Amino acid sequence: MFTIDNQHAVKIANEVYWIGALDPDLRVFDIILKTANGTTYNAYLVKGEDGVAIIDTVKEQFSEEFFKKIEEITTYDQIKYIVLNHLEPDHTGALPELLRRTPQAKVHISPRGLSMLKGLIKNEEFKAHPVKTGDSISLGNKKLYFFTTPFLHWPDTQCTYLEEEQILFSGDIFGCHFCDGRLFNDVVGDFRFSFEYYYAHIMRPFKQHVLTALQLIKNLQIQLIAPAHGPILRDRPLDYIERYKQMSTPRLKNELNQEKSLLIFYLSSYGNTAKMAQAVYRGASTVEGVRASLFDLQGGEISPFVDLIEESDALAFGSPTINGDAVKPVWDLLASLALINTTGKLGAAFGSYGWSGEAVRMVSDRLRGLKLRVPLEGLRVKLIPTDHELQECEAFGQQLGELLTHTGAFSERREIDLSDLN
Ligand code: FEO
Repeated sequence: MFTIDNQHAVKIANEVYWIGALDPDLRVFDIILKTANGTTYNAYLVKGEDGVAIIDTVKEQFSEEFFKKIEEITTYDQIKYIVLNHLEPDHTGALPELLRRTPQAKVHISPRGLSMLKGLIKNEEFKAHPVKTGDSISLGNKKLYFFTTPFLHWPDTQCTYLEEEQILFSGDIFGCHFCDGRLFNDVVGDFRFSFEYYYAHIMRPFKQHVLTALQLIKNLQIQLIAPAHGPILRDRPLDYIERYKQMSTPRLKNELNQEKSLLIFYLSSYGNTAKMAQAVYRGASTVEGVRASLFDLQGGEISPFVDLIEESDALAFGSPTINGDAVKPVWDLLASLALINTTGKLGAAFGSYGWSGEAVRMVSDRLRGLKLRVPLEGLRVKLIPTDHELQECEAFGQQLGELLTHTGAFSERREIDLSDLN
């Protein structure tokens, strides 16, 4: 019988146990992630004829209950291996003390993880062995295989597979912040929102790495997924893999018929930046192979724009300068882009100003900070754009289109980002 307040090791398969901790009171994880009903730090123990493996640990403040659960099942001298699927402190908080209690145990970790671990635990002696995809360890009648799955969501991450029980110990992937001591997905509360929220905030920027990992594990027989947070997925585990695949696959990819998507966002106080945006839009639309779209930030929610941006090829932001700054909706949208991968997209900024006009430079800098390429100097117009200045805006839009399609003035010339010149 499982209770909401789970203080004991829980058998999840033959000689496999959950030895994690519940943290129902946590409300914010890693500063930015909301955790409305807390989280769990899942760690596991696998017992074989020739020894025991511990897979991950818990946040440091929960060490005592972690060790108590281990002691319910085995003695420390039986622990032969410590497997670290991920090094973030919520999974390695109890590691230094575990290493002290198990000097004979060998840590199995990804090669990148090992170099990070040496930086994390500087005062402990430990034996370690870097492992990569296909490597395995034996507990006699049980064998654990490793799969290197980097950037889910740190460079160190890996998954571990227990062949005999067909269990995938997945680390953060397939996890979520949802605390329920009943532990298993078919008996806990409704955690669908938490599962997708976790994906959106933790895994989404690494979609390509998610797809690579799914490819790596696709031939495994999986009866149960044992993630590092939230419910253990024993009921229809493959559904969760499928959902990850869906969430990581670009949507409506054929909608643009191979055209490049340029999104132009703007906000305007007196209509001047709006006129510039329309001219940029007209200019870009003259370039064959470019699908330009114009959005007034006054009329939109941030979240759908983030979705749209994720699958676009280029972004242009138009902002007036107010009190020496770009306007808040522009910053809000830019701040939300940390959730997605914008590396290599084309970026540009423009705007009308009255006195100093800092917004265009600030937005350009932010776009570079998000790893967009920003080859064109931002376009600024003092107050009301003249016909000539609007023609310049059209030319700016056309240049963006040509940069995207490598045509016209940019058909042969190598594209240089202004930041390359610094
Ligand atoms: Fe659950 Fe990335 O730590």
